[in-house]
Parts: sequence; C-alpha cells; structure tokens
Amino acid sequence: MPLPKAELHLHIEGTLEPELAFALAARNGVTLPYKDTEELRRAYLFQDLQSFLDLYYGLMAVLHTEDDFADLADAYLARAAEQGVRHAEIFFDPQAHTSRGVPLGTVVEGLARALDAGEERYGVSTRLIMCFLRDESAESAMETLQAAQPYLHRITGVGLDSAEAGHPPSKFREVYEAAAALGLRKVAHAGEEGPSAYIREALDILGVERIDHGLRCMEDPDLVARLARERIPLTLCPLSNVRLRAVDVLAEHPLPRMMAEGLLCTVNSDDPAYFGGYVGDNFRAVHEALGLGEEQLRELARNSFVASFLEDDEERRGRLLTEVEAYEFEAAGAE
Ligand code: HPA
Ligand code: ZN
Repeated sequence: MPLPKAELHLHIEGTLEPELAFALAARNGVTLPYKDTEELRRAYLFQDLQSFLDLYYGLMAVLHTEDDFADLADAYLARAAEQGVRHAEIFFDPQAHTSRGVPLGTVVEGLARALDAGEERYGVSTRLIMCFLRDESAESAMETLQAAQPYLHRITGVGLDSAEAGHPPSKFREVYEAAAALGLRKVAHAGEEGPSAYIREALDILGVERIDHGLRCMEDPDLVARLARERIPLTLCPLSNVRLRAVDVLAEHPLPRMMAEGLLCTVNSDDPAYFGGYVGDNFRAVHEALGLGEEQLRELARNSFVASFLEDDEERRGRLLTEVEAYEFEAAGAE
C-alpha cells in the first residue's frame, strides 16, 4: 500500500495521456499532427516552459464535450488513487477552452461529474482551482472570473499559470481582489521560471496562501526565512523541474536543502502525462535521486494534508494525518 498523500499541484489538462488523446480525437473527428502515440511521445522533449506549453495547449484540441472532460478526470483519479492520493486539488485552465469555443459550463460540469463519482469509486476527495493564464490580459482573467459565477459552488480557489517570465503577479491584483471578495482561496505559480521577486509579489500583492513551485526562493535567503517563518506551503514538482529544465538533473534539485531550511514543502506531479510520472513516481524519484529517507517522505505526505484546503472537512484531514503517522514503509521504502 502506498503512502497516503494529497496532490496540490496538478493541471487536469496535463494528465491527458497520448492514448486518451488519440481516442478523444477519433471520437470528435479531430486530426492530430502526429501519426500515433509513439510519435506524440517522442515530441515530449522540452527545452523550457514555453516549448511544453505549445504542445500542452495544442493537444487540448481533442477536448470538446462534457464526456471528454469527465473521461480525463476519471482517468487521472484512477492513476492517482493507485499511487496513494487520497485528496487532490485540481487546476484547470478555463481560457484554454473558452478561446476554442468550449463553454466554461461544459468544462466544469464534465470535471465535476467525474470528481463526484470518483470520490465514491476511488476514495479521493477533490477540490477544483480555476487558473488564469498569465500571458493573457488581466481583462480576460476578470471576464473568466465573471463567467465562473454560476459555478462557484464547484470552485474552491483561483490560481495563476502559463508563461511566467514577463507576466508578474501584480498584473492580476484586481482579479485576485475580486476572487477573494467572492470567497475563493488564492494560490499562484511563482518562481518556476520567474524570479524570486514574483514570489514576493504573489504573497504581498495577491495575498496567496500557497506558492506553486517557488523553487527560485532559494536565490533569496530573506525570502526563504520569511516563507519558513510564515509556514507558506510550496507545491514543488521535481520531475517537472527536470523536464522543463528548471534544474539540470534531479540529483541537483534543491528539495533537501529547502526541507532543511524549514520550508513547508510538498511534492506533486504538475502535468504527469508529459513529465514522466504521477505523484507517487515523484516521491519514488526524490527517494532514489535525492536520498530522502522514510521520515522525510512522511514529512512531505504530512505537509500535503496540512497545506490542503480541507478547512471545510477537518475531520477528514485529521483522519488522513493519522494514516500518515501510522504508515509503515515496506522494505523498498519508496513512495
Ligand atoms: N507552469 C506554468 N503553467 C503551466 C504549467 C507549469 O508547470 N503546467 C501547466 N500550465
Ligand atoms: Zn503547474
């Protein structure tokens, strides 16, 4: 049995495996610019964040109907549950769909249907976090927030993703103020490709409660001290960082140093179909490449529930934390 954990940094569109992409393409009469799944997989050699995003947005052309989004989310939950995920806070990118003529309601209703069924079927509780594309305008983000009003009972929070450099958090101040006024929780990607100053902006200008990635805080010792003191969770994605070249090789990932600094680190998969593994694979990878031992893996699992937005179900959080403390690692001691 794998270590129980929460996944807090997961783009549902990034769980689109090549096999499902081709199946949905056939169902919807979409022609993909790849001969087969093998050829598509061979395209997963990214130079940086942008080269990944080009493929990620391109492949979304196969997602059209509520059923498509439901199938996508169901496939994720099945894989995640196998790797010990008991709670998932799932990002989605409304603008990447509405810009293709897919209504926001289709996206949310399809995802929500699978998540509701999945809670029963897989024992995974879920929340949805709606992300704004930071390389689109602040006006477009505000329109997206307005369009989401009929679905707010399904949406727990807002996030900020896509191409980071040149698109500072401050660009979205008003949108985040409006989101908070609607009772939404706030997170943002910061310090993946962008500088540590973007992490400060996300905290001070947007008022976020968690930082997604946050890797580059390590260039700023005062910021590290603050993040540790204020117990701001960081949702790290080690395999993603290697594939998008935020770090050269996994063995050089700063996760062990970050934990030693007292940062509240979590480990997540980001876009598992593209980056070589789901969250359990990320846990195994940091165990093998970084030498994190059982108590450090337990700390990461504990942190994932502490950092989750389970305030509306403290009983479940407490139960899951108890499971983490009681977990007995097998001889292999990985995920
Ligand atoms: N970074 C920024 N935007 C994204 C990512 C990421 O890793 N994945 C999907 N959208
Ligand atoms: Zn991400």
